[in-house]
Amino acid sequence: MSRAERTLAALRSALAENPRNGPIWLEVAEILAELGRTSEATEACREAVRYLEEKTEKQRAEALLSELVPAADPAPSNVFTLVRGGPAAPATPRPLASVSTEPVTFGDVGGLDTVKETIRMRIVLPFQHPEVFAAYRKKTGGGILMYGPPGCGKTLLARATAGECGARFINVAIDDVLDMWYGESERKLAALFEEARSHAPAVLFFDEMEAIGASRQQLRGSPGKVLVNQLLSEMDGMSGRNDRVLVMGATNAPWHVDPALRRPGRFDRVLLVPPPDRPARLEILRLALRQRPVADSVDLAMLAKKTEGFSGADLSDLVEQASEAPIREALTNGTIRPIDEKDLLGALARAKATTKEWFSTAKNYATFSNVGGLYDDLVAYLAEQR
Ligand SMILES: Nc1ncnc2c1ncn2[C@@H]1O[C@H](COP(=O)(O)OP(=O)(O)OP(=O)(O)O)[C@@H](O)[C@H]1O
Ligand SMILES: [Mg+2]
Repeated sequence: MSRAERTLAALRSALAENPRNGPIWLEVAEILAELGRTSEATEACREAVRYLEEKTEKQRAEALLSELVPAADPAPSNVFTLVRGGPAAPATPRPLASVSTEPVTFGDVGGLDTVKETIRMRIVLPFQHPEVFAAYRKKTGGGILMYGPPGCGKTLLARATAGECGARFINVAIDDVLDMWYGESERKLAALFEEARSHAPAVLFFDEMEAIGASRQQLRGSPGKVLVNQLLSEMDGMSGRNDRVLVMGATNAPWHVDPALRRPGRFDRVLLVPPPDRPARLEILRLALRQRPVADSVDLAMLAKKTEGFSGADLSDLVEQASEAPIREALTNGTIRPIDEKDLLGALARAKATTKEWFSTAKNYATFSNVGGLYDDLVAYLAEQR
């Protein structure tokens, strides 16, 4: 092991103790940058900028970050909104949550068998057979927090969970709940729980969970902290009553989710929603093509093989792109022809796998701050990919 590697290992264990130590992140970033490990250095540097408070150090981190990625925006936008006071309110206020009753079930979700199984055991079955779980005094309730790269099915799974339970799906973006006016965020949150109860059975799905945590860390004594506490008390209050409201959450950045939200009875199961493996990619391609005309000759297995690193969203995008040429032709000559392999391969040539980038960030956390085995499923996944 080189000297730099030894130093890195020591810093790594310090970060495992305290993942919010800005100066150590900066040290790590500088060493990684010297070693030419740019993507890891970039992510470490982002963390340094996030957590550093001392001015000259923060400037040093920002300078390094701009060398590593020109024109990077280091902080989540909602934090800036809170600090600066966001833009003027839009003329027509956006609804706080979008409610949907379209039935989507696990059958519409390709792959992800272990994740589905966990959700079935933790949420769907207790919901359908409360008496069985009560007979064994088995505790139910407690939310599931899903995390993983973008476009791999977190939102879809939450929607499908609602479908499996025959419950209404209420989708909440935390960013829309956060409000710079004192007391306003709490009022919105209370209204959401009220809405869910009045529409029960319902799945209340909190997307962008990191937004709530980030605001609490960065602005001490800010609306974020009060909001976390209120979310906690709403969830605690629910466990006693039989509200028939299920709570799920999702994030791309579980490391920025407030740890208080992960205590027992709250979002106490943290689940990785990984990119689809080859069989899952095949299933997702089939699902995406199921209601479109497709030539028999199309070799989907070959496509599944060639799309390593693609997210579910990348794959549905690919199918969308492949449909464009046949549509254009049909509009000019009036005949509907099936999508063929050439269309799909053409779309593939222009497509890009989007999950890799997320893993370069995630890897840092999996190695540097896997406190209490929180990211064990991520560590296992990374080990499998080697
Ligand atoms: N496992 C899957 N099976 C079928 N379709 C999928 C799957 N994963 C993703 N998709 C497709 O990609 C779209 C986007 O997925 P989804 O919104 O669930 O991703 P996400 O993990 O919530 O992403 P983000 O982190 O960006 O919110 C879905 O609407 C669906 O069309
Ligand atoms: Mg989503």
